[in-house]
Amino acid sequence: MIRALVPGSFDPPTKGHLDVVERCAALFDEVIVAVVHNPSKNPLFSAEERIDLLEQCVSQWPNVSVASFQGLLVDFAKEVGATTVVKGLRAVTDFEFEIQMSQMNRYLSGDIVSLFVATKPEYGYLSSSLVKEVARLGGSVDGLVPAPVAAALKERLS
Ligand code: PNS
Repeated sequence: MIRALVPGSFDPPTKGHLDVVERCAALFDEVIVAVVHNPSKNPLFSAEERIDLLEQCVSQWPNVSVASFQGLLVDFAKEVGATTVVKGLRAVTDFEFEIQMSQMNRYLSGDIVSLFVATKPEYGYLSSSLVKEVARLGGSVDGLVPAPVAAALKERLS
């Protein structure tokens, strides 16, 4: 039984994130989408709001659940019995940062394995930051985020 974590900020979740979650739902017995709650950051959506949005977006996969965590990812993984951490890679620039984080996680806990999933090419340019910028400036993000997220962005930024 493999329980995998897909951790992230998800501020807000994008179609790129959901592509990674969908691949994981097919690969692992259980998947927990783990929303980081970092009180020192100032996210557009609170951890509760991000959880709510993600829950609406993952309901079609019965083996996927959503949770939030504070502190070290490896501690949360141990707490929920997850052995695998999965992150999406869009480009080489992601790889440089992600390999650094995965090696730090390995230093912190040798029991946790990091795996990387290449995102769909059409989402290679997609990021939560750019989605927020486009939405703030009045552009359409309908093709980039799931419908509940597009609605939440309109409400928050209008
Ligand atoms: O969506 P992001 O911003 O790429 O997600 C980054 C995240 C949440 C996976 C990363 O910041 C994280 O694991 N934070 C928890 C704190 C931690 O464990 N830090 C040490 C490992 S580098």
